[in-house]
Amino acid sequence: RISSMSTKPKVFITRRVPESGPTLLKTQCEVAQWNKDDPIPRNELLSSVKGVDALFCLLTEKIDGELLDAAGTSLKVVGTMSVGYDHVDLQACAERGVKVGFTPNVLTNAVAELTVALLLATSRRLKEAIRAVENGLWGTWKPMWLCGPGLEGSTVGIVGFGRIGMAVARCLKPFAVNCMLYTDFAERPAEAKEIGAEFRSLDEVLAASDFVLACVALTPDTKEMFNKDLFKKMKKTSVFINTSRGGVVQQDDLYQALVSGEIGAAGLDVTTPEPLPTDSPLLTLDNCVALPHIASATHNSRGAMSELTARNILSALNSQPMPSEIKA
Ligand code: DGY
Repeated sequence: RISSMSTKPKVFITRRVPESGPTLLKTQCEVAQWNKDDPIPRNELLSSVKGVDALFCLLTEKIDGELLDAAGTSLKVVGTMSVGYDHVDLQACAERGVKVGFTPNVLTNAVAELTVALLLATSRRLKEAIRAVENGLWGTWKPMWLCGPGLEGSTVGIVGFGRIGMAVARCLKPFAVNCMLYTDFAERPAEAKEIGAEFRSLDEVLAASDFVLACVALTPDTKEMFNKDLFKKMKKTSVFINTSRGGVVQQDDLYQALVSGEIGAAGLDVTTPEPLPTDSPLLTLDNCVALPHIASATHNSRGAMSELTARNILSALNSQPMPSEIKA
């Protein structure tokens, strides 16, 4: 146990987070925190991490060589309160012997749930419908008004069949989807069989799907993979949903695809940049629904993410196996 030494290890937490994590850390560590809802300015962060043993960060902090060096050789572990880790330079961490923890599993169902919500909001045109009610445009019940494609009998294509992609497929089962397709670097036959999903090439998924769901992690391979070439391969009526990272989409191409009718609609929980500027052309479109990166925002998930981040940190500080370590 850490407490055999007289001085406790120092942990810096980069934001106001659910109390479960800080409370746990305080049992064994000296905790300092940027206790605000807005991100810590970079300069402040660089000076705050000096001499810490552990860093509890979020997806908004760039964890690179500069930051690790600012922390110095005392730094043993970085715990990010996120499942995505494209903001962490894993090689820079490995070179300095710094372990990295993340928070898979505890947010999977919340993200899957919001993916389905976004899919429904987009395909059933809820943004237009809500605006119509609020702006007095709801004249009467009209047979042709605000119709959209339903999920029943549709083909859903999941790009990236990891934890979240699979959970989305499971959530969609009761909607009487006709065909669930997935694509990934490799087939996942056991999971696909259980879920009732079929493996296809990316091109086949794009061509066949009424709904295309981006569930891939952001990596150099997936960066801006959803570009004009891919949108051209989709059905003109297809609905594109992204709950992974804004960086997997070439956003200007997406805008053009939506305006020109290359695809039918898009639902985005993630964008580039975040926050999406209010003058973004995407926000002028009725067929684009944008949310402020809230997929994991359930009380339970965020609490569990905070606690798992703390457990990752404590395990590393105690030289124990971390519950969720990212291996470079
Ligand atoms: C993550 O964890 O990476 C999400 O984007 C936020 O929950």
